[in-house]
Amino acid sequence: MHFATFTNALGLILMAGNVPAQGHPGMRLKRASNQTADLSELKTWWHSTGEINTQTPVQNANVRQSHMYSVQIGTASDATSFYDSFVYETIPRNGNGNIFSPDDLSSVCDGQNCSEDDQISIEPDIGADMAWTQYLASTTTIVRITRSDDGSVDPSNVIIRPSNLQFDMQLDGDAVLITVPYSDDGHRFSVEFQDNLWEYRTSGPETNAHYVQNKDPNGANYVSSYEDTMPIVGVEPTNALMIFMSPFPSSEYIPDLSTAYHVPFGLVTGLDQVTESVVHFGPGVYWLTGSAHAILSSSVTWIYLAPGAYVKGAIQYESQSLDLRATGFGVLSGEQYVYQANTAEGYKNIKSDDTSLKMWRGHSAVGTKWTVHGVTTNAPPFNSMDFYGSDLGSFTVDASDYKQVGAFFGQTDGIQMYPGSHARNIFYHVGDDAIKTYYSNVLCEKMVVWKTNNGPIVQFGWYQRDTKNVTVDAVDVIHTRYVSQQVPWPRALVASAASYESETSTSVADITKHLSNYNITNWRCEGICPALLGINPLQNIDEMVFSNIWVETLSPAFEVGTSTFRVFTDSNNGDQAIALGDNSPDNLGLIIEDFYVGSEKVSFEAGNWDSTSLGRLNIDGHYSGRWTVR
Ligand SMILES: *[C@@H]1O[C@H](CO)[C@@H](O)[C@H](O)[C@H]1NC(C)=O
Ligand SMILES: *[C@@H]1O[C@H](CO)[C@@H](O)[C@H](O)[C@H]1NC(C)=O
Ligand SMILES: *[C@@H]1O[C@H](CO)[C@@H](O)[C@H](O)[C@H]1NC(C)=O
Ligand SMILES: *[C@@H]1O[C@H](CO)[C@@H](O)[C@H](O)[C@H]1NC(C)=O
Repeated sequence: MHFATFTNALGLILMAGNVPAQGHPGMRLKRASNQTADLSELKTWWHSTGEINTQTPVQNANVRQSHMYSVQIGTASDATSFYDSFVYETIPRNGNGNIFSPDDLSSVCDGQNCSEDDQISIEPDIGADMAWTQYLASTTTIVRITRSDDGSVDPSNVIIRPSNLQFDMQLDGDAVLITVPYSDDGHRFSVEFQDNLWEYRTSGPETNAHYVQNKDPNGANYVSSYEDTMPIVGVEPTNALMIFMSPFPSSEYIPDLSTAYHVPFGLVTGLDQVTESVVHFGPGVYWLTGSAHAILSSSVTWIYLAPGAYVKGAIQYESQSLDLRATGFGVLSGEQYVYQANTAEGYKNIKSDDTSLKMWRGHSAVGTKWTVHGVTTNAPPFNSMDFYGSDLGSFTVDASDYKQVGAFFGQTDGIQMYPGSHARNIFYHVGDDAIKTYYSNVLCEKMVVWKTNNGPIVQFGWYQRDTKNVTVDAVDVIHTRYVSQQVPWPRALVASAASYESETSTSVADITKHLSNYNITNWRCEGICPALLGINPLQNIDEMVFSNIWVETLSPAFEVGTSTFRVFTDSNNGDQAIALGDNSPDNLGLIIEDFYVGSEKVSFEAGNWDSTSLGRLNIDGHYSGRWTVR
């Protein structure tokens, strides 16, 4: 909360919380209807087919609209005008229930015919959902938010996350006004009303713990009262609201629409027959159904989702062009698909790493770069993006101003970052591995991450790899809610899972491979956080630096809050253990510096690092001398 003075556009100096009366000259006029802005300084949009519906799938041509929030945007320089900005909403399972067959709400999973738990349990019963709005601006803007329930909009009831943004807030009648300074990086933030929080509790400390809830006696995992043995593992707004402010895009992100294929509104078919290189979804609603996705013809290199385009589908490139793009400020929504929709099996809920649907997929040529900018991916049913090809080592990604929302399902990863990738200014609501550092020469920065229950924030495991020159910098983790640690699938800020092929064996490492020059810098984790690291090393780790990491508080669940670094050996090389630091200066393999829990610094010197102390670092004794906390 920031109670600085606020000078409005009329030059009146207001204190935050000092409310101008109705009709006061400082008061901004609220537009009554869906009037949008298409100005040089501000662009907003609207869907005329908004459907407020918190329970069931929305009609094909409709867009789920927030039942809770209305948002208007104004510029700081025009005190009288606010413009509507459509507030989208996603509910867990998209109202489909836990089903097996697409578009068949009666095909409820029975534990036999759906291959895996979708990792949604109490969320529908407690009414959890995620709303978001997106607008473009070239100046300071004022975001005006009203609620449809009776809850308070007083700034004292609102926390904006990342909490270090400290945007000015002001009460304006039935609305809270948030001043959002212009930034070339845009802003991706959560507006959290403190009377609208859900405390996620687990059934207890056991490994197979699950969430419990005391709200709906007919819902999942109901308990009439909470016991002391049921710790709070995460706190989130029940009705989340994300605000995405983006600068207007530069020309490299806007294709020449004069030669584009303009997709007709409604049911989308025939994109495999298009001869143009650009496929343009103009403002409007499109759908492919739960049993189809957009397989593009080989001519198509660029998908443009205009602001106000809402496409219920998934995209698969077939072009062999070296320059593939997806841009615009529209939404690609997986809401019509079942969990892990398997394209080879009628899009049914049958997991396959290869053929379960990715929201973004390609089969590409050596040397391809995929540029993604501006778009929002909603409700992914599985890993959000994977490309395939003969040599992924030569594929690269340039991702910026990308948003993933409504990722309530468990196995919903962030995008892959192939060698040489640069990812920045990204928001992830994400179930599984959020930031995947499997390849070399990757820079990932300026990330806001809202993590649910599965996988770590950064993942670098699963396979034995040679990976070097990786930086993950400036990350704000605004929520996590881990139920358990579940080694060897570690949940931590930074982790490597054990081998995909042999999850239980610790003798599957490869001592001929190295992770080196790998830096995790300038992180903040708000609220209840998992351990700093959970490493099942499948290759040598030469040099790994954690620098300037602040964690508000470590999870009360012991195994979630405690870092682990296990010893793995290489059965092909005499069961030799992987080396930590043997190829780095002074054999210092793992360097943790300026690591804070709360306001206290963790260090060897302060003696507060071990698994029973503040830092809760539990590093196998085999590696003593090969790591430091300073
Ligand atoms: C505003 O809403 C009305 C009524 O729903 C609709 O007819 C109109 O098209 C909407 N305008 C915009 C800009 O969406
Ligand atoms: C799932 O299995 C149950 C029990 O075998 C069956 O009744 C149900 O019809 C199946 N659902 C689908 C969609 O096949
Ligand atoms: C390290 O990775 C960054 C980010 O991709 C890249 O710009 C830089 O050239 C790489 N350095 C080397 C030595 O390859
Ligand atoms: C990682 O940090 C080390 C130590 O500060 C530095 O020497 C190295 O250049 C950094 N590497 C990258 C990829 O940022």
